[in-house]
Amino acid sequence: MTDGTTISSAAKEIEHQYGHLDSLVNNAGITGSFRGAPSEVTVDQLREVYDTNVFGVVAVTNAMLPLRRSQAGRYTATDLNNHRGYRTVEQGAVIAALLATLGADGPTGTFQDENGPVPGNTSLVAVPW
Ligand SMILES: NC(=O)c1ccc[n+]([C@@H]2O[C@H](COP(=O)([O-])OP(=O)(O)OC[C@H]3O[C@@H](n4cnc5c(N)ncnc54)[C@H](OP(=O)(O)O)[C@@H]3O)[C@@H](O)[C@H]2O)c1
Repeated sequence: MTDGTTISSAAKEIEHQYGHLDSLVNNAGITGSFRGAPSEVTVDQLREVYDTNVFGVVAVTNAMLPLRRSQAGRYTATDLNNHRGYRTVEQGAVIAALLATLGADGPTGTFQDENGPVPGNTSLVAVPW
């Protein structure tokens, strides 16, 4: 977390192997080697802790955010979102047409995309339009 090279290697490896990141847990944390009274702590001792617990977290988060965004960006590019969506109108229309032509015995109470039900955390799943 304190080495930019290993952070960017980790991001590249995740992108290469999986193409996206589902979640990031910034668990790493240290208390540092200092054990004295707060008034005795040196800047270098504090820096060691901040490098991991603060700047490391920001560095890892920044490196991983593009991989998270590629997962979240499933909505459709239209005027409504200044064409920042990731799917074309044609792609977005597929699910609308599928839902409009469902039979009475079709699925209900699920999030769907053009491939069927989308499992997992539905708060991360874009509605189809
Ligand atoms: N233990 C508790 O009671 C407690 C309570 C509340 C919150 N927490 C929080 O839980 C988190 C984990 O703490 P823990 O108790 O599990 O401590 P831990 O056993 O010492 O684990 C800390 C982890 O952070 C990793 N780490 C430290 N510096 C790193 C760096 N520069 N780059 C990458 N990884 C680094 C360590 O990796 P290596 O093993 O490879 O060094 C280790 O896996 C911390 O954020 C802590 O504040 C713990």
